[in-house]
Amino acid sequence: MPTANGYVIETHDLTRKFKNVVAVDNLNLGISQGEIFGLVGPDGAGKTTTIRLLCAIMNPTSGSAKVAGFDVVKEAEEIKKRIGYMAQRFNLYGDLSVLENLNFFADIFAVTGEERKERIAQLLAFARLTEFQDRRAAKLSGGMQKKLALACTLIHEPEILFLDEPTTGVDPVSRREFWDILTDLHLRGVTLFVSTPYMDEAERCSRVGMMFEGEMIVCDEPEKVKELVAGELVELRPKDLRRARDIIAGLDGVLEVQTYGDLLHVFVDSVGRRMPELEAHLRKEDVGVSGLRQTRPRMEEAFISLISKRIAEGRTSNPVDSGARNGKSN
Ligand SMILES: Nc1ncnc2c1ncn2[C@@H]1O[C@H](COP(=O)(O)OP(=O)(O)OP(=O)(O)O)[C@@H](O)[C@H]1O
Ligand SMILES: [Mg+2]
Repeated sequence: MPTANGYVIETHDLTRKFKNVVAVDNLNLGISQGEIFGLVGPDGAGKTTTIRLLCAIMNPTSGSAKVAGFDVVKEAEEIKKRIGYMAQRFNLYGDLSVLENLNFFADIFAVTGEERKERIAQLLAFARLTEFQDRRAAKLSGGMQKKLALACTLIHEPEILFLDEPTTGVDPVSRREFWDILTDLHLRGVTLFVSTPYMDEAERCSRVGMMFEGEMIVCDEPEKVKELVAGELVELRPKDLRRARDIIAGLDGVLEVQTYGDLLHVFVDSVGRRMPELEAHLRKEDVGVSGLRQTRPRMEEAFISLISKRIAEGRTSNPVDSGARNGKSN
């Protein structure tokens, strides 16, 4: 049931404070049915708190939100019937088998009889776990555990799904498989609200919201978010990364320099004009360079650029670097 504005998730100045930390700061959001909404942001940005508020698990300090047409404070029980929530540290029962875990969640949501049987069979097939149904959850691979957690979350056929970093710590192949399943759900009309540290996943969303220190700093389609980064992008692999970076940062027309492993990504006002200048300067300083080319900004560059800008505005001193959240295991 959408709100008067046609949204299945709608918030007005939604705010949650913990003592002196504003975990969610005046959030205004409208999400339509069938969207895949991606929430990204560094550690502590307020993603989990936002999801908990929307799942009616935690009350806001001020402001309001409606999910599936119901108020998160006054009608929490109605919301819980209609949503699925996969928490950041979703707990399966390791000693129970795949099938027993699904039965356990079916008990909680009072899914019984033939309906239960059918639904569990469908979910096992959907999550590609049928042949593992008797295996203890603790003995599944990380990727399979995530798929089982998702299957458990789907047992009552929720119309809106909240997934808090559902693929963090999972290998790339399993992450892709997990997203294929999410795409399937999307095609069935389920609304998905997903937080993720992975920018390739953010690119698969219909809209992306970037959170930082409790604030939604950008919220738009992935293509539009990428367009927010000023300038054109040059990529290069210098022999001496630090020296090259120092040299390039001081050149005319250079707007921003980002580091990715042994690559430098340089935003310039004009690639046609600056790429030859850049190469000439590095050659003059005797810094060897390979792989010099123009490239398109991805979500990752946009994320770093937008958040670095926020930091430069003096709001915080937290460093942000592209690799900081990779390999995170919680
Ligand atoms: N129960 C709590 N009590 C006190 N502070 C909290 C609580 N929950 C969250 N916070 C604080 O609120 C801020 C937002 O935390 P939150 O867990 O929502 O961030 P997050 O974006 O999910 O981070 P992560 O990527 O690490 O999961 C942080 O500063 C955190 O320390
Ligand atoms: Mg979190």
